[in-house]
Amino acid sequence: MIIGSISENKKFENRVAITPDVVKKYKSLGLDVNLSKNYALHLGISDKEYEIEGASILSDDVAVINESDAILQMNILSDENLSKLKENQILIGVLNPYLNENKLKDVSSKNINCFSLDLLPRITRAQSMDILSSQANLAGYKAVIDSFSYFQKAIPMMMTAAGTISAAKVLVIGAGVAGLQAIATAKRMGAIVFATDVRSASKEQVESLGGKFLIVEGTENLETDGGYAKEASEEFKKKQENLLKETLKKIDIVICTALIPGKKAPIIIKKDMIDVMQSGSVIYDLAASQGGNSELTKVNEIVESNGVKIMGEANILNKLPVSASNLYAKNIYNFINNLFDKEKKTFEINLEDEIIEKTKIK
Ligand code: NAI
Repeated sequence: MIIGSISENKKFENRVAITPDVVKKYKSLGLDVNLSKNYALHLGISDKEYEIEGASILSDDVAVINESDAILQMNILSDENLSKLKENQILIGVLNPYLNENKLKDVSSKNINCFSLDLLPRITRAQSMDILSSQANLAGYKAVIDSFSYFQKAIPMMMTAAGTISAAKVLVIGAGVAGLQAIATAKRMGAIVFATDVRSASKEQVESLGGKFLIVEGTENLETDGGYAKEASEEFKKKQENLLKETLKKIDIVICTALIPGKKAPIIIKKDMIDVMQSGSVIYDLAASQGGNSELTKVNEIVESNGVKIMGEANILNKLPVSASNLYAKNIYNFINNLFDKEKKTFEINLEDEIIEKTKIK
């Protein structure tokens, strides 16, 4: 069996699905690897490095698609390349099934097996394949680094002969994977960190990282059985707004990470809340591409309002594509390792396996 991967559209995506390290792992599983020319040259990885590990570099994308049993990508293929897939071929990636519903239905109806890794169940056995966690973790880190670089004051408290600089105050909204990494990164850099979430379980996690948890008093725990957030009621939203409006007066940097699976991101920071913030403060909205947690967020723009900079990008992971690719490539390798039957030497689409059943596009 042969797996293949072609270059992503570099206008939107710098990450790759296969790194030289994992080529070696695929080879020892008994799989051959096809890649298109200059596959990861933009990351400083030459074709030679892939070839040394045993990959074959083919002349173009069409050759890779034609000569591979499974295509491993970061994002869904272009319409043109999707149309080249054949019966029984496999396509794996972050296919964004809510956005690409019709395209994927069309492809699946031709007996092409599509698996979207953003649908992975959050069960223990799937942890090593969990692309949402591996990428969110890096995004949380990078949002802190980027927002700190736009903030025009020092972050840690400094006592010098010339006077004292007080520590910056950071508020993290949403304490899931990205939020917890943002808290840890901001703490390591010397900030005083506050955080809030709708799930009560996150309080202990925030505190274990040295953050101060802000509780929206008198409200229920908004956690689903799967550990995700439920949409908040109007009463909750009002109470959260009051709490945050008071808090934001003394906050220098806000990192927004709040998401509700399958829905538009909740708007948490309204314009009048930005108006009470100190000029020079920064809001980094990691939820930007899902609609944003701040009312003023514009994707890939830095909006300024009342002296506050509000920033958010379509894909912050493009700013650390090497680390993001290294983790993603391992996640997708672990998925293949589960899909590949080592005895029969073939891909086994066993729908009784929860991981395979949940990620497969029907
Ligand atoms: P996410 O990316 O869907 O959301 C980010 C955070 O925003 C969540 O903590 C959510 O509760 C919070 N949020 C949503 N609406 C909010 C609002 N209005 N105000 C404040 N906060 C709000 O979540 P993520 O990071 O994917 O993690 C969600 C859960 O999944 C967590 O319980 C986490 O521990 C769990 N998890 C489990 C894994 C496993 O393999 N078992 C792996 C990774 C995460």
